[in-house]
Amino acid sequence: RDIGVTCVAFSGGQPREGVDMGPEYVLKANLIQQLQDMNFNVMLTDNKIHTYKEFFPESDQPIGIVKRPRTVGVVNKILTKQVYSHAKEGRLALQIGGDHSMAIGTISGMSQAIKERFGRDLKVIWVDAHADIHTVESTESGNLHGMPLSFLLGLVKKSIEGLEWIEPCLKPQNLTYIGLRDVDKAEKEILKKYNIKAFSMHEIDRYGIGQVVDMAIDYLSQDGDGQGPIHLSFDIDALDPSVAASTGTPVRGGLTFREGHYICEALHKTGRLVGLDMVEVNPAIGNHCEDTVTVGCSLIRAAFGESLL
Ligand code: ARG
Ligand code: MN
Ligand code: MN
Ligand code: MN
Repeated sequence: RDIGVTCVAFSGGQPREGVDMGPEYVLKANLIQQLQDMNFNVMLTDNKIHTYKEFFPESDQPIGIVKRPRTVGVVNKILTKQVYSHAKEGRLALQIGGDHSMAIGTISGMSQAIKERFGRDLKVIWVDAHADIHTVESTESGNLHGMPLSFLLGLVKKSIEGLEWIEPCLKPQNLTYIGLRDVDKAEKEILKKYNIKAFSMHEIDRYGIGQVVDMAIDYLSQDGDGQGPIHLSFDIDALDPSVAASTGTPVRGGLTFREGHYICEALHKTGRLVGLDMVEVNPAIGNHCEDTVTVGCSLIRAAFGESLL
């Protein structure tokens, strides 16, 4: 099979430098060769790491407290097309970040291609410590990496300059979270209001990761023939900081190394995985960033079918 890899060297959705170096480190850790060794035909978008800098606006003043809306907007507009063109050709789409604001583009592009190819809705599993569902009105930080889902779900009626092109492409019933443990008050209200399925660390403690993943997949299989393509958006901060320390917003009490891998392995086994984001790897944070980079690579391989036996 073919994998289309898009390297998103972008940090504008949050304030810490270094997350734009994620793709460079992941490639240096030999991911492409590893995927080729698994017999994939790997195609790197434009054969380079994209910074998108040539498209940045000259100035990008905050709108209210929302930071860099036009920059995040233009990057995601291009990323939408990049992911779409891989997915439309039937390639598995792998996006390496970069901060999580890039999910605006990855999920927009993927859902459009899936709609055209199969005439059905994309399902999304969002693995994260955070809900990333703030609206431009509810955000306390102004960082767009905490808001991608509100745009994808169309929760913001009022459009904001640079981001007005985003088409709502995800229905609340087609989204499930795994790993949450740092959800802001306004986000909890949104989850409740739209009845969004979420398995927090509490449910993982209660049921174990095996049952949680089964329940998540079952939930996303209610309509039609119980099938349908799934996109996995994996924020490395879902893992416990003892496993993945090099990330901008670490939160204690996260997934173990095996729990993270289990999610990826189980999704591979469904045969329904069409896209994968690996985001928020920040090599500038912590003393042993190669540990976090290595885990990122092995999660990716697990999602694409590397088996233990
Ligand atoms: N909820 C916080 C905020 O709105 C943290 C978001 C962290 N998001 C992430 N993709 N790491 O800023
Ligand atoms: Mn997060
Ligand atoms: Mn996130
Ligand atoms: Mn070291």
